[in-house]
Amino acid sequence: MFLDRVKPLSAILATAEKKSLHRSLGWFQLMLFGIGCVIGTGIFVLTAAGAQKAGPGLMLAFAIAGAICIVAALCYAEIAAMIPVSGSAYTYTYATMGEFLAWTVGWALILEYAVAASAVSVGWSGYFSGTILNEFFGIQLPAFLAAGPLALGGAPGGLINLPALVIALLVTWLLMIGTRESAMFNAILVAIKVTALTVFIFLTIPQVELARFNPFLPAGVFGGLGTGVGAVGAAATIFFAYVGFDAVSTAAEETKNPQRNVPIGLVGSLLFCTVFYILVAAGAIGTIGGQPIMGPGGIPFPAGSEELARQCALPQHIQALVCSDEALAHVLRQIGFSEVGNALGIAAFLALPSVILVLIFAQTRIFFVMSRDGLLPDVLSRVHPKWKTPHIVTAITGLVVAVGAAFFPVGQLADIANAGTLYAFMMVAIAVMVLRRTAPDIKRSFRTPALWLVGPATIAGCIFLFVNLPFAAMLVLPAWGALGLLVYFGYSRGRSHLGRGVVEVVDDIAGVETTIPIDPPHK
Ligand code: ALA
Repeated sequence: MFLDRVKPLSAILATAEKKSLHRSLGWFQLMLFGIGCVIGTGIFVLTAAGAQKAGPGLMLAFAIAGAICIVAALCYAEIAAMIPVSGSAYTYTYATMGEFLAWTVGWALILEYAVAASAVSVGWSGYFSGTILNEFFGIQLPAFLAAGPLALGGAPGGLINLPALVIALLVTWLLMIGTRESAMFNAILVAIKVTALTVFIFLTIPQVELARFNPFLPAGVFGGLGTGVGAVGAAATIFFAYVGFDAVSTAAEETKNPQRNVPIGLVGSLLFCTVFYILVAAGAIGTIGGQPIMGPGGIPFPAGSEELARQCALPQHIQALVCSDEALAHVLRQIGFSEVGNALGIAAFLALPSVILVLIFAQTRIFFVMSRDGLLPDVLSRVHPKWKTPHIVTAITGLVVAVGAAFFPVGQLADIANAGTLYAFMMVAIAVMVLRRTAPDIKRSFRTPALWLVGPATIAGCIFLFVNLPFAAMLVLPAWGALGLLVYFGYSRGRSHLGRGVVEVVDDIAGVETTIPIDPPHK
């Protein structure tokens, strides 16, 4: 019952063939696209939470998370080039392991995309309030409008994060009226982000004092299961800084010479980000210090916790890296480059909304495909007559993202998004290996090198990071999954088009549709 209802690969491939996009992208364009999706709140904001978990060990954390993403990216590349249709991990699972597991992946992807969009919105809010409102206009947003409530991990006096709410709604509106980011616009934003980080590295590294790295691992490598601290605990959080590269794999079908360009583009953008992230972490911690604020028993206070928020309000901690909402701008201001710090704040202010846009866009496309498969209500795949966008699902997604952003802190949102993403990555690695066995002869324009090492390494890496998340974030996945099961068995299973004997493979809003009647599988 759990592995039935596998969507025929032939139907999916037929659709992809009809669509057959022109192969025009080279590795450089892929890299630009990758860096555009990836660099965001993770490095600009979560550097503070990462330092609170691992101190200088944050550099090691970036290396661990980067390595796991690189093996995952190699798996993504094979399946994305082979099954180039919308729906990403959800569709891949549908074609290999059946509807039930595909549903769980689609459900988990809500965490990856929607919750991550909330996290990036909160990250943006820190730079908006700190740099734009405070530094430029001298306006201090009242505490109750600047962060979510303390009880949920916000700041003392916080009630609602108004800027985060507004940016999420604004981006949603842009998507509803049909805004898509052009390659040119993306390239400009990538240039802004990379310039900001490069300047940061060049200004901080010469001022690094080696003593600041001592102790290097104040919370150890393994801080203890469920605590979310230590170098691996930080890796589980900072993994967020790499989320989004899977969007690049979906461009595999438009790539010239994919066997060469897809791995260079995907792995290249991840390697580039990893090196950059490690240097940024070294520059931040080596100049103003990044030791965690320790709680009882010499264990760092949990990032995003009420206790840490109270500690950060004390005069001796107010300037600490681990307490900053705009970590990188804060470092530059502390070492005497206030103007450059503000310029970096503007770069984050300009560039982070495009990450939110990519994430909400990806979320709406997953919902769209699930709705066209009959697993979610039809209304979600309704397309606006004038805007030609799935406006209803975009509006609903945007509202949910905005509510998450309004009330929850960035660290908790990022951890929850990571839990869902890790599950999806693991399923993709399994799907690639299953397809090598079940469909060995189908043309693969890119083959994962050493799949029987890379695939298991991806699965092990994802499980490893998952069990090193804070306990609460770990629990969200099964709890969310249980809710998903109720929806699946209560609603979706009975309405599934495949279950009713029809295979519809749809690619994107105005895309190609193939309808193939098949014998209904056993119910
Ligand atoms: N990787 C993206 C970011 O850090 C989601 O904002």
